[in-house]
Amino acid sequence: MYPKLLSLLPILPLLTPISATLTIAARSMLIEATPLVIAIQDYYNNASSSFAPATFINGLPDLWQNPQIDLDAGAEVHVLHDAPHHPDLRVLTTVAEVFYRIVATRSSNITSDPTSLRGKRIGVRSNSTSEYFAYRYLRDVAGLNPGDYTFVPGSGANSGLCYTLPCANGTLPDLLKKGEIDALTAYEPTTELAIQTIGEDQAVVFRNDSLYRELSVMYTTQAKLDDPVIRPKIIQFLRVLAKVQEVFAKEPKKIWERVANITGSGVSVKTLEEVWGLTRWTGGLPEDTVDLLWEEDKWVALDETLGRGPMTRERIESHVYGGALAEAERLGPL
Ligand SMILES: *[C@@H]1O[C@H](CO)[C@@H](O)[C@H](O)[C@H]1NC(C)=O
Ligand SMILES: *[C@@H]1O[C@H](CO)[C@@H](O)[C@H](O)[C@H]1NC(C)=O
Ligand SMILES: *[C@@H]1O[C@H](CO)[C@@H](O)[C@H](O)[C@H]1NC(C)=O
Ligand SMILES: *[C@@H]1O[C@H](CO)[C@@H](O)[C@H](O)[C@H]1NC(C)=O
Ligand SMILES: *[C@@H]1O[C@H](CO)[C@@H](O)[C@H](O)[C@H]1NC(C)=O
Ligand SMILES: *[C@@H]1O[C@H](CO)[C@@H](O)[C@H](O)[C@H]1NC(C)=O
Repeated sequence: MYPKLLSLLPILPLLTPISATLTIAARSMLIEATPLVIAIQDYYNNASSSFAPATFINGLPDLWQNPQIDLDAGAEVHVLHDAPHHPDLRVLTTVAEVFYRIVATRSSNITSDPTSLRGKRIGVRSNSTSEYFAYRYLRDVAGLNPGDYTFVPGSGANSGLCYTLPCANGTLPDLLKKGEIDALTAYEPTTELAIQTIGEDQAVVFRNDSLYRELSVMYTTQAKLDDPVIRPKIIQFLRVLAKVQEVFAKEPKKIWERVANITGSGVSVKTLEEVWGLTRWTGGLPEDTVDLLWEEDKWVALDETLGRGPMTRERIESHVYGGALAEAERLGPL
């Protein structure tokens, strides 16, 4: 070993006690993750701003697998999968709320009456919040049991999803057009592109915004919140996020091209514009957050591979923490 390196060793722990950067992980391919990337680009990794740099990791590695990650963001269903093993998980805010739709084709004899979905083959992105929406819609609005319809899981490179026309062979919109499925649900833009693939006059669209919407949430651990260096960075990020969400809500024209770029999915600005109304950028923690998670967890727990029952309401409540948001609000807007 080099003597010089050896002499450095005792001080190394002092040099790297805590990462100076804030690290955020999310799947940037999803529209609802893009405000995080824009927040980092505009406020953190911008030479003319005073913020310390931040790092974005594209993916959804969990907070315990990679301790460098300070904030994870994704659909609330991930929280429900992680929470039983991690009592220290804390949901801090929503990045976006996303409304889903079921698109069916008239050539399968489906009408605007939801009960006409009985006996039909419905393409889904399995084990996702969009499948949960379909399950709830069919149960609560159409009055159908899981035995009354068939979910057909999307397959192939993108699990049957489509980002740009023409939708490739084997994607869910393509299967709908070929009559191999009768209806589908997925996240955008797949649903919108399915309507365009079969033609608006052929499409029957089912939607119910009060029933369920995905909460794309941002979460961390209690240990990160207790850390005197990391906590203020998290609070600051919540303030930055609120600022970016305002642009997404009120001046989306300004960011559509960047959003399309960030997703890297090939989605066009025109398509983004068409689906924009299905996403809400209010942020914060909606009043029904705990109830929504509690209800959805009953569905998650039906998955026998998980080998668990539903969590109690108290347990779910312990994972939703409004304190960081309140602190950010006390500091006022940026
Ligand atoms: C960088 O920050 C400055 C000052 O806040 C702002 O005017 C500018 O638009 C930012 N640049 C980018 C690329 O976001
Ligand atoms: C649609 O309904 C018609 C008339 O009842 C029937 O002949 C046809 O087979 C049905 N098609 C499908 C795909 O269910
Ligand atoms: C659903 O996803 C969770 C989390 O990724 C996984 O643990 C579970 O096994 C999945 N269930 C099915 C049926 O694929
Ligand atoms: C589409 O995929 C199916 C099944 O994989 C295959 O049999 C068919 O040849 C493909 N069609 C085209 C036009 O690529
Ligand atoms: C939407 O769902 C809610 C909750 O189940 C229900 O009360 C309402 O009637 C539904 N509305 C429509 C238009 O289906
Ligand atoms: C989108 O990406 C392309 C190619 O990397 C680049 O030329 C363009 O400036 C980007 N546009 C925006 C608004 O970021």
